[in-house]
Amino acid sequence: MFGRIDHVGVAVEDMDAALALYRDALGLPLTHRETVEEQGVDAALLDVGEGHVELLAPLAPDTPVGRHLARQGPGLHHVAYAVDDIDSELGRLREAGLRLIDESPRTGIRNSRVAFVHPRSVGGVLTEVVQPAEGH
Ligand code: CO
Repeated sequence: MFGRIDHVGVAVEDMDAALALYRDALGLPLTHRETVEEQGVDAALLDVGEGHVELLAPLAPDTPVGRHLARQGPGLHHVAYAVDDIDSELGRLREAGLRLIDESPRTGIRNSRVAFVHPRSVGGVLTEVVQPAEGH
């Protein structure tokens, strides 16, 4: 079962400019910053109540976020739903006929476990399922 929206992912070309907007102008506290080499991104997490905005800047053009920026420009990238048990959730989604990009969970920022569902299965919205690490 999806517990809540954990975060929305936003693709940005320039992290400094994005932080000037989200942290300084919008006033969201920056709580985490991490480079995830495996996903080819520099990520920043800002708090909004119990949820987050996840800013994603590509480390190179030939990465998923880099290709997204080239195709669609900066803006909304994905929606992430928090779950308690990602393994059983992925099984449920697979049984429901959804196309998983990640057949098994991988490590996301702050040691979460994440998996993406193909946007063609979810009405055009790239969808992430995230099991936050303990304490997050
Ligand atoms: Co995300």
